[in-house]
Amino acid sequence: MERSDAEKSQVGTVGLPRRGTRMRGRVALVSGGGGGSDADFLGTGAATALLFAEQGAVVGVLDRDESRAGRTCELVRERGGRAVPLTADVTDEAAVERAVAHLVAEAGRLDVLVNNTGVTGGAIDAPDLRDWDRVMAVNLRGCAVTSRAALPHLRAAGGAAIVNVSSVAAIRAFGSGAYGASKAGVIALTRDLAYAWGRHGIRVNCIVPGHLHTPIGNHGGAEGRDLRRRASLLATEGSAWDVAWAALFLGGPESAWITAAALPVDAGSTAATALGLLPLM
Ligand SMILES: NC(=O)c1ccc[n+]([C@@H]2O[C@H](COP(=O)([O-])OP(=O)(O)OC[C@H]3O[C@@H](n4cnc5c(N)ncnc54)[C@H](O)[C@@H]3O)[C@@H](O)[C@H]2O)c1
Repeated sequence: MERSDAEKSQVGTVGLPRRGTRMRGRVALVSGGGGGSDADFLGTGAATALLFAEQGAVVGVLDRDESRAGRTCELVRERGGRAVPLTADVTDEAAVERAVAHLVAEAGRLDVLVNNTGVTGGAIDAPDLRDWDRVMAVNLRGCAVTSRAALPHLRAAGGAAIVNVSSVAAIRAFGSGAYGASKAGVIALTRDLAYAWGRHGIRVNCIVPGHLHTPIGNHGGAEGRDLRRRASLLATEGSAWDVAWAALFLGGPESAWITAAALPVDAGSTAATALGLLPLM
């Protein structure tokens, strides 16, 4: 499908579909699902929440920032969907447990957890390791905390799924410090939870996104956007919607026989060597 220039510059790829029913009767929790003021330029969590709602799910939008969680819920409601805002820091076990319990009380069940929360930073050569600890705590421990809180409800639902969001920084170095290490941990945790919880009817998979055009990935202005486009095998730039569509697939019934997978969503950039990419750029 040919995209308009406005679509290419704003969302970079196919955005919301027409309303569907693939997730009807299901309840999904998206962590780090908060959205900002620009409804046409969303983070991956907000786009995922919108897409799940558009396909009939009730979505719990968890974020440490109350106004960001509320903003995504407003967007869902404006389009006729149902969303429950949840304020919690994913490093705070008690707060996450309260948030999950609130969603289940409101919506009756929990079928899908998307562990999307992520923060950058954690340079190894900083004067101390405080930032390193913060990044590991949010990105890796937060994923474990939220999965543990969701476990009893996912077990009860039957045929449930967890979708974790890692990063190409987990498998390719670019000086990201604790960020890359934490995201590599997310891939390992994905496999371990798939092993531990498969017999409980819970599939656990992981998305490995490349450098996307999202609010936190929007570095380098027009030049940065052009570089991201050229550093892919498809010569296109990815957006939050590319992750959202992968999350919908991995969280939905069409992927019923897929677990413990790490799916690159990077237009093939990590499949090529640096020397292979150079002539394409
Ligand atoms: N943007 C990219 O290029 C890119 C590439 C690879 C992977 N990712 C991953 O995708 C995910 C989302 O990225 P994004 O660009 O949409 O980010 P974003 O900043 O737009 O969204 C992240 C959300 O998480 C929330 N958050 C931060 N810390 C939190 C905490 N401790 N508890 C609860 N909520 C918290 C923020 O308030 C924000 O709303 C992250 O896991 C990121 O690492 C992004």
